[in-house]
Amino acid sequence: MTRTGSPTGLRFPAAVRQATAYVPDWSGQDRTGLIRLDRNEATAPLSPAVAEALVAHIQRHGVHGYPEYPRLVAALAGYTGLPAGWILPTNGSDQAIDVCLRAFLAPGATMLVARPEFVIFGHSAGLLGAEVLGVPYGPDLEFPYAEFRAAATAGPDLIVFVNPNNPTGTPVDVEFIVETVEAYPATPVVVDEAYAEFTGVTVAPLIERYPNLVVLRTFSKAFAMAGLRLGYVLARPEVVDQLVKIRNPFDVNALAVVAALAQLERVDEMRASVAETMHRTKPAVLDFFREHGVPVWPGAANFLLVRPGGCAETMDRLRAAGILVRRMTPPALAGTFRMNLGTPAEMTTFMDVYRELLPAPGGVEAKQ
Ligand SMILES: Cc1ncc(COP(=O)(O)O)c(C=O)c1O
Repeated sequence: MTRTGSPTGLRFPAAVRQATAYVPDWSGQDRTGLIRLDRNEATAPLSPAVAEALVAHIQRHGVHGYPEYPRLVAALAGYTGLPAGWILPTNGSDQAIDVCLRAFLAPGATMLVARPEFVIFGHSAGLLGAEVLGVPYGPDLEFPYAEFRAAATAGPDLIVFVNPNNPTGTPVDVEFIVETVEAYPATPVVVDEAYAEFTGVTVAPLIERYPNLVVLRTFSKAFAMAGLRLGYVLARPEVVDQLVKIRNPFDVNALAVVAALAQLERVDEMRASVAETMHRTKPAVLDFFREHGVPVWPGAANFLLVRPGGCAETMDRLRAAGILVRRMTPPALAGTFRMNLGTPAEMTTFMDVYRELLPAPGGVEAKQ
């Protein structure tokens, strides 16, 4: 036996030992060719122009060079309307979360967030030895305004809003974020806006007025680039100057930069795809569930929470038909799965398959 009980004899800090690795459902399985509604990825194909830009870059420049960020930052300044010095690209917004938490939380510090929150917040806070002050969402997954306001009076070291939240889809009123930012001017308030392109709601322009406001964004969702890992932080330059010490110099890879530059030249394509998802696909899928009496939480973004009778069996049968959705483990979401909205063709297949799983009229058994 070693000191740690581990055969290596290596000693890991308690926060690392106690953490659980984040392993998404269906990890280790070949997801190729399946309808992947399980990870809130955008399933739309990459714009051919973006693909061409990637190929052209590799052919001309190879990948031997470390990445450079000035052109990306300038393009993001154009896209967000904030100055370049207020923008820090990160390796996905997962890293943006981690960088912010490492900047604002020390062991024993406290982070206030509505729960169940996007999982990386709790995970990163735990690894830092920080405490999460989690305020449960309401019974219908609504934002718990009164309870959150009360909890903030305890003086947390960091306040987090995930707007809208994943997995609940719950939005937070901008007025409430402003109220909080104004009430606690010496407390950093991080707003995760991973789905902002879908909601059209952002507090980014308010950073100019409120130096304690920090906004996180990503190219993984509306821009359909989860595989390239690109996110960014929007914050006052004095904040960015601190955060940049934590991100390593080349954490965002060169191909993510090339793809993002190409995307930002054709933002209209992204907007058209977002509009199709939000104004056509989402209402159609919601109608489908409602017509068949399946409880569904629409949320504010491009994913839904669904509570079928017999969640595990439904998921297995969807899986057998080549469709992946995500089981929800937080107790408040027991018996639900989360699904992002795929392409119109994928959602037609989804609804055809799901229809076969519904109880036969007048019966309780699923159709065979
Ligand atoms: C609310 C929220 N924030 C951040 C992320 C992380 O996205 P990425 O690291 O791919 O940018 C996700 C991904 O699901 C999310 O739902």
